[in-house]
Amino acid sequence: MKCLAPMVDGSELAFRLLLNNVTHTWTPMYNCNMLLNNPKFARTIVDSIKLEQELTGHKVVLQFATNSTEALEQAYALLADNTADFVEINFGCAQAIAQKGGYGSYLLDNLPLCFALIEKLKQISNKPLALKTRLFDRLDYFFDGAARLGVTLFTLHGRMKGLKMGCYSGPSDFNAILKHMNTLKENHKVTFILNGGIWNYQQHEKFVNLGADGTMSANFILQNPFIYTTPGIDVGVGSTEYQQLRTHTYQQIEHMKNEVKKTAIYSQTQDLFKRYRNDSELVKMIYFINPAFKNYPTFDSLSVDVQNVIIKNNKPGVGTGYLFVEKELKMQILVTALQMIENHVYCTKMNVENPWSALVSHVICLCGRDTMNYNVDVRKVLTDAKSAQNQDDYPAFRMGQFKTCIVELLDRLENELGFVETESEQKL
Ligand SMILES: Cc1cc2nc3c(=O)[nH]c(=O)nc-3n(C[C@H](O)[C@H](O)[C@H](O)COP(=O)(O)O)c2cc1C
Repeated sequence: MKCLAPMVDGSELAFRLLLNNVTHTWTPMYNCNMLLNNPKFARTIVDSIKLEQELTGHKVVLQFATNSTEALEQAYALLADNTADFVEINFGCAQAIAQKGGYGSYLLDNLPLCFALIEKLKQISNKPLALKTRLFDRLDYFFDGAARLGVTLFTLHGRMKGLKMGCYSGPSDFNAILKHMNTLKENHKVTFILNGGIWNYQQHEKFVNLGADGTMSANFILQNPFIYTTPGIDVGVGSTEYQQLRTHTYQQIEHMKNEVKKTAIYSQTQDLFKRYRNDSELVKMIYFINPAFKNYPTFDSLSVDVQNVIIKNNKPGVGTGYLFVEKELKMQILVTALQMIENHVYCTKMNVENPWSALVSHVICLCGRDTMNYNVDVRKVLTDAKSAQNQDDYPAFRMGQFKTCIVELLDRLENELGFVETESEQKL
């Protein structure tokens, strides 16, 4: 099983539709109180799941965030006719918002409440039950109790429950995950997904060979939607689909091209690329930035965001974001950024969940967060677009601007134009 992780502003429908190489997707967590305040929104969740299943064949897991059996029951009633393949409670979120709301991994201090929530879900839903959680001291006891209550799909994120900063907190503890997986599987016939720091297909295969039924990716799949594509399969730059998409996009945005503000080029990227590939040097740098990073096995195993922190701290002013994947792959990823925009338009048309904030963060992740400081800044589109003359055209204008930026990045990559900083280019 190749799984897209639940992510607020990440695993909404538009991104789930983009992925044709995963088998299972998770919705973002839906806060039960929020659903109760917004029943209309609840309908869009049901419609989104159905649409995804029809279009992709993905198995979909619907995730709830709550600390109240009553709120869960009432919120579930709004989604009673959902077609999700599994339903689950989030026992893993460590973010401040979960701490404030007393849900996610903060429920783990009160295991009787966790079990009561699972029991309630079992009572109100006829779907198979899943759960997602993190490492903590009573995990084996929790897993055992949950399996006895009927949970059949378990996902374990290999970071401790108190760590709020995700991949910035340090690497996932794969040995601990495998240990808990083995204990659980010795006693119960369940499905087990390993999560936390899965950065490439080899990692996925390795853990499947070690007994996991699958792996789940969050941060990495946002930056590289091809993470679960079997190596060796042509995912597209040479393909007709890719060429058509590019031609189409070029035609669509031709009239805007003159408006594209040229920003950054940084010409020494190749040198940097080589330099930071040297692992022994990296270990030193990684340790220097944050002791937690020294445990990451290779530089590639750090998410692009973390790589950027390291590079920035060692060489201020140099942005290299996407240079850690090969040019061809990066071009494919940029094309998926164009596809994301199409998906967003499609979701709007179909009247299903479609937050603008999610589109913005996807485009930023796919283009390469840091690169944009020095290149074509997608974020700037947001402010530029506010000055759109006809406010009715505002969403279309923003989409167009996004596309223009992405095509600019594609051009620069394809023609190996390199990257220079905004100011130096302006000086020319
Ligand atoms: C933007 C973002 C939003 C997330 N939202 C959720 C969520 O709604 N529910 C949840 O269980 N975990 C959530 N997570 C945690 C991920 O599902 C995952 O467990 C974690 O990021 C570790 O996986 P990774 O190392 O592949 O990033 C989120 C993570 C990110 C980066």
